[in-house]
Amino acid sequence: MTNVTKNNKSIKIKAPIVEALKQAYENPTYQFHIPGHTKGNGVLPDFKKLVGSKALSIDTTDEFDNLGTLHPATGPIKEAQELAAKAFGAKKTFFLLNGSTAGNLAIGMGLTKKGQRILTNRNCHRSILTGLIISGAEPLWLVPKRFDDWGIWGNITPESVEEALSSHDDISMVWITNPTYEGVVSDVKSISAICKKYRVPLVVDEAHACLWNFNKHLPTPALQFGADIVIHSLHKTGGSMSQSSMLHVSENSMIDADALEKSLKLLHTTSPSLILLASLDAARANLESPKGKKQLERAISNAKYLRSEIDKMEHIHHLKPDFGYMTDVTKVFIRADGLSGKRLESILEIEFGIEVESASDAGLLLLSNLGNTRSDMQYLVKCLQMIDQSHYSDICYLENKKHMPMLTPIIKMSLREAFYSEKETIPKDLSVGRISAEVIAECPPGIAVLLPGELITAEHLPYLTDYDFIEVIK
Ligand SMILES: Cc1ncc(COP(=O)(O)O)c(C=O)c1O
Repeated sequence: MTNVTKNNKSIKIKAPIVEALKQAYENPTYQFHIPGHTKGNGVLPDFKKLVGSKALSIDTTDEFDNLGTLHPATGPIKEAQELAAKAFGAKKTFFLLNGSTAGNLAIGMGLTKKGQRILTNRNCHRSILTGLIISGAEPLWLVPKRFDDWGIWGNITPESVEEALSSHDDISMVWITNPTYEGVVSDVKSISAICKKYRVPLVVDEAHACLWNFNKHLPTPALQFGADIVIHSLHKTGGSMSQSSMLHVSENSMIDADALEKSLKLLHTTSPSLILLASLDAARANLESPKGKKQLERAISNAKYLRSEIDKMEHIHHLKPDFGYMTDVTKVFIRADGLSGKRLESILEIEFGIEVESASDAGLLLLSNLGNTRSDMQYLVKCLQMIDQSHYSDICYLENKKHMPMLTPIIKMSLREAFYSEKETIPKDLSVGRISAEVIAECPPGIAVLLPGELITAEHLPYLTDYDFIEVIK
């Protein structure tokens, strides 16, 4: 329980897992159970020094010390999930370890079936495809807008969803990603209304948008538009530790929450880390607290400041909202005239000690986070100003270079059939005309260039620079 004061009133923000872990730490027992390092006594001393003995002494799994269990949810873990559901406006929330990936796998495994058609965007995360490989359901591709100048995929239009639903009566789920990795926001309100009209459940992979419910200057979260399931990677931007995410089932969801829960149980570790679970509980409590709200306000104001300073620059530009789409202000995608995103990334890293979220040929992504201070942002602005005024060159920069794989897939086999077929590995240069047997998706952001079952054509080769060999169907 954290006591905070607001307008001279004391508010209690509950964080049950954090509290239970604290109790366990303060009331140690003689431990003859896993984890075998026993409160850090059995680890490499250098590692203990690095992470701290306190962190190791609270490293435990569920079932012990009255900490509750994850599957089924009991005790403080159950209570923490209920508080999260309330905070995010869901009927039920599941804590995920192995990130949002675990949520997407469970949705595929528990809620889709062999032969069903799932309408999803081609630039979806590879975990959605893995979910479909598990079940044998087939994707029907929605092709989002392309933003050629920026080398990125754009928004999914409601018209494209309506078009697909009106011309295919066998679509059993619409599973979209919003926002994109670079912060492009689709019109989910209209998409949700269309799904309701056709009585098809809507799943929104909102991995990059867990903050939206906590500040009115951010876009509206899909749960408020009646999406049936929403996934959030709290660890990406919400302040929890790496790998920890949440899956929310909405109040009037059409989906079978029991089937989903069974799949989550089957896919999860049977030894969930209490530190990771506590970090989810703490992240939710922080976002609800006045301090967390201030951190988010600061992240938004820092992002606005960065954008307004970039507006004054001559050669550096940032992606702004435009007709048909919005952007998440905290995700600042920039490009520089005459410099590839990768070159700009290396200048920032090598010369200024700045690490960015990701970079492509076209541009790079900067996140204005809960934890960034104003002086972090001022330093970034100063460095960008110096780059803007300097004469850096980039021999790899090509005007109008094709930055992203926008190729229409030629599907020769189903995803699942191809994934489980006999395969061989061949040099990339010999792969044209063969059928891909693997998901080729560079991370981040993990968007597919080729999927199992798709014909490899000469047009794919420029996008496969990181590959010398490719797995194909025998
Ligand atoms: C849209 C999207 N969905 C899901 C994931 C998987 O998330 P996680 O890393 O939490 O497993 C990612 C990861 O980048 C993503 O970009």
